[in-house]
Amino acid sequence: MTIIVNYNNTKQQMNTKTTIKASATQVAEAFIEHWLELLKQSKDDFHVALSGGSTPKLLFQLIKEDHLEQFPWERIHFWWGDERMVPPNNDESNFKWAFELLIRHTNFPMKNLHRILGEMPAENEQLRFTAEMITKMPVENGAPVFDLVILGLGTDGHTASIFPDRMDLFNTENISALVNHPESGQQRVTLSGLTINNSKNVAFLVTGNSKKDRVKEIFSHDQISKSYPATHVNPENGELTWWLDEAAALML
Ligand code: 6PG
Repeated sequence: MTIIVNYNNTKQQMNTKTTIKASATQVAEAFIEHWLELLKQSKDDFHVALSGGSTPKLLFQLIKEDHLEQFPWERIHFWWGDERMVPPNNDESNFKWAFELLIRHTNFPMKNLHRILGEMPAENEQLRFTAEMITKMPVENGAPVFDLVILGLGTDGHTASIFPDRMDLFNTENISALVNHPESGQQRVTLSGLTINNSKNVAFLVTGNSKKDRVKEIFSHDQISKSYPATHVNPENGELTWWLDEAAALML
């Protein structure tokens, strides 16, 4: 069952379109259709930042299995919203899963692959990645303009690798940051809130029972939600969409 709801985000007085589907597979399928619609809106290069974690793995698998021919791979540029500073063949690598589950199965031009080099010294890589975004993407308002940023939601309210202890990344002129995972200490390079909110389209894909409380708090504008980085994702001149399964939307 599809439910389209529009929530007025009090901070931005903007509508946020939310689609709720019965299952994670149906969420991914609906989002694929949305992504294809966005692609149809222009004939130019399309810069997309992929999210990490487990949620997008189903999306990658479904595109590979049922939609490979529909995507104009020649004009898509793959970036990442964040990356763990590990080698690209490490199971922790966000690049690894996107490549293994999808990219290697397409005729995507590898010159358009802009992975964060997790195997490199983190400080240097953050600077290199920042320079690559600035030189290879349109820049407005002091940040690159992604056509689409795909995000997940952590159970602590983080998104990309902007964790609750780094809310400063929503009030910075930096377009990326080097952070440490608050529990494991793992080094990560992440887009900053400035860059995420500079995008034309931002889409949260959130599924599963473990996210239902955070989703409810964010959508209800509960006081606690102000401490969640995900709450502060509001593309100033773009569209924000949420894609939820019924388990994650259970408390809405
Ligand atoms: C990462 C992600 C992170 C992820 C959320 C949700 O590198 O881990 O970018 O922001 O999207 O933690 O992760 P799951 O999809 O695994 O629930």
